[in-house]
Amino acid sequence: MTTQTSAAAVPAATATAAAERSAPAPLRVAVVLGTNREGRFGPVIADWVLAHVRERPDLDVEFIDLAEDEPPSALSFNPSPEAADRLARITPKLAAAEAFVVLTPEYNHSFPAPLKTLIDWHRAEWQAKPVAFVSYGGISGGLRAVEQLRQVFAELHAVTVRDTVSFHNAGALFDDAGNHLDPAAPDAAAKTMLDQLTWWGIALREAKEVRPYGS
Ligand SMILES: Cc1cc2nc3c(=O)[nH]c(=O)nc-3n(C[C@H](O)[C@H](O)[C@H](O)COP(=O)(O)O)c2cc1C
Repeated sequence: MTTQTSAAAVPAATATAAAERSAPAPLRVAVVLGTNREGRFGPVIADWVLAHVRERPDLDVEFIDLAEDEPPSALSFNPSPEAADRLARITPKLAAAEAFVVLTPEYNHSFPAPLKTLIDWHRAEWQAKPVAFVSYGGISGGLRAVEQLRQVFAELHAVTVRDTVSFHNAGALFDDAGNHLDPAAPDAAAKTMLDQLTWWGIALREAKEVRPYGS
């Protein structure tokens, strides 16, 4: 004799768990703009990325702009009150995030110094979390900056997602209102990147609930 399971026979706890699995709470994503250069192009890129993140109901976004929230330039195990104040504006946002989108230009074949300073001030805040990249620059599109950042984040036990969005000769790609002139390909790239980030973010959230990450 075979036994069929009807919906009514499914225990309430099992049904609830299944529903939670199919619709997890939105992933808390921090978008980090990694430059504070005067006259920077970065805000155009940030607005474009934030628009893509905000249209997704599966993501909750926090924006960290290193021109607004600048980490202290000198690392210290005993920060001054001023340094502690600055960190108090940044660190809780990183700690609360379950995933990151790092926006980086390329400066001399690498990423900007303030971004490295932000990374180095923190440790647990990056651990066992996924990091995606949007890069921009001159001819390189920031790709070298991203490849170097992958090495940095590996040291911090973060997981970098494969697919990125990169803007080569970025200044020529957007109109004065910040709209991309030919958006189909970058829109598709952003979706792929955010899908991968979300998969990793939810997978790591669920894994850490069962087995806290120990390093
Ligand atoms: C100091 C500096 C170094 C740069 N080095 C590179 C580089 O190595 N490769 C590249 O493709 N673009 C390079 N660029 C171009 C920048 O990536 C591009 O101007 C970008 O818009 C800079 O981001 P920002 O405007 O948000 O500061 C450099 C720009 C600056 C200011």
